[in-house]
Amino acid sequence: MKPLIIALALVLALPAPASAGPRPPRDLRELAHQQGIKIGSAVNIAALRDEADYRKMLNHQFTHVTAENAMKWESVEPERGRYTWADADALVHNAHRNRQRVRGHTLVWHNQLPAWLTEGVADGSITPRELKGILRDHITTQVRRYKGKIRAWDVVNEVVEEDGSLRQSIWLTHLGPGYIADAFRWAHRADPHAKLYINDYNIEWNAPKIETTFSLVKDLKAQGVPIHGVGFQGHLGIQYDYPADWANVMRRFAGLGMEIAITELDVRMVLPVTPEKLATQAGYYRRALTDCLSVKACKEFTVWGFTDRHSWVPGWFDGEGAACLLDENLAPKPAYRALLGVRAR
Ligand code: G3I
Repeated sequence: MKPLIIALALVLALPAPASAGPRPPRDLRELAHQQGIKIGSAVNIAALRDEADYRKMLNHQFTHVTAENAMKWESVEPERGRYTWADADALVHNAHRNRQRVRGHTLVWHNQLPAWLTEGVADGSITPRELKGILRDHITTQVRRYKGKIRAWDVVNEVVEEDGSLRQSIWLTHLGPGYIADAFRWAHRADPHAKLYINDYNIEWNAPKIETTFSLVKDLKAQGVPIHGVGFQGHLGIQYDYPADWANVMRRFAGLGMEIAITELDVRMVLPVTPEKLATQAGYYRRALTDCLSVKACKEFTVWGFTDRHSWVPGWFDGEGAACLLDENLAPKPAYRALLGVRAR
C-alpha cells in the first residue's frame, strides 16, 4: 500500500505536461473567458433584427454589446416627451438572452441630438435653465429604464477637443463646464450600480487631449463625483502609426482609480484591400488587445462593429474601409485569427 501512495504522490507532484494548459480558444467568447475580459461589439440594430447570420455570429462570439445608434438621444426621444424604446429594448433583451453584458451609449454627446432640442436651443425657445432640466430628465429617464441591466454607461462622450480645450457644444455654451459633473451625479442617482464612464477618441495618443481628460477625471474624483471609468474609443487606421504609448496612458488613468475599456476599436485602411494591409491591420488589433490585457484595470475590449458589411467607416472616410474583424460575408480576416492568438493574462 505504502509504495502505491508514494508513487501517487510523486505523480501528483510532477509538473503538468505542456499540453495540459488551456487549449487555444475556438472563438472570441472562449478567448474572453480564458483571459478574464469582456469582448464586445457595437450592434447595428437593423442587422440584429433582419440578418440571421449577423445575429448568430454576434450572439455566439461576444460577451458584451454596445448599441451603435439605438440608445442615442435622437433615437430614444425623437420628439419632445415621446420616447421610442423599441430598438434599445430589443438590444438589451437579446443581450440578456445570450449572456452578454451591455454598455449604454451614450447619455451626453454633441452629435445625434434630436432636432427639437438643437432647434429649440438655437431659436431661444429652450432657455438655459430649461435645458438643464431637460438634460437631467433625459439622463434620469434613460438610466432608470435600464437600471440593473447596463454594466457601464458612456455618460459623457467626446467632451474634449483635439487642442485640449473643452468641446464647444450646446452643453458647454449654455450650462457651463459643470454639466459634466451633473451628468455623472444624475446617472449615479438613477442606477447606483452602473459603472459610469467618460469616453473619447484620440486619447490613445494625442497629448493635449490626454492631459485635459486626465485633469478632468482627477478633478471630478477630487470633488467626489461618481466617475468610474475611462473609455478609449480606438478608431485607428493603418496609414497612421499604432499608438505605441497606449498601455501607459491606460495605466495613468488606472492610477486615478479608473476602470479602463477599449470601447469602439476599429482599424481602417485605404482601399483596396491587400494581404499586406490585412496583415498590418491584424497586428494593430493584436497589439490593442495585448495592451488592454497588460493593464489590470482594463476590463472590456469592444469593437465598433464586427463585420465590414456594417461599418461606419466607408460612409465617413472617402476611399477607406475594411476596418472590422470579419469581411462582408462574415468570413474571419487575419485580424480575427490574430486576436485568438493573444495570450496575456
Ligand atoms: O437614422 C437615419 C435614417 O433615418 C436615414 O434613413 C439614414 C440615411 O442615411 O440615416 C440615418 O442616420 C444615420 C445614423 O448613423 C443611423 O444609422 C446617420 O446618417 C449617420 O450619420 C449615423 O452615423 C453614426 C455616427 O456615429 C454619427 O455620429 C454611425 O452609424 C455610428 O457608428 C457612429 O458612432 C460613433 C460613436 O457613437 C461615438 N464615437 C465615434 C463613432 C464613429 O463615428
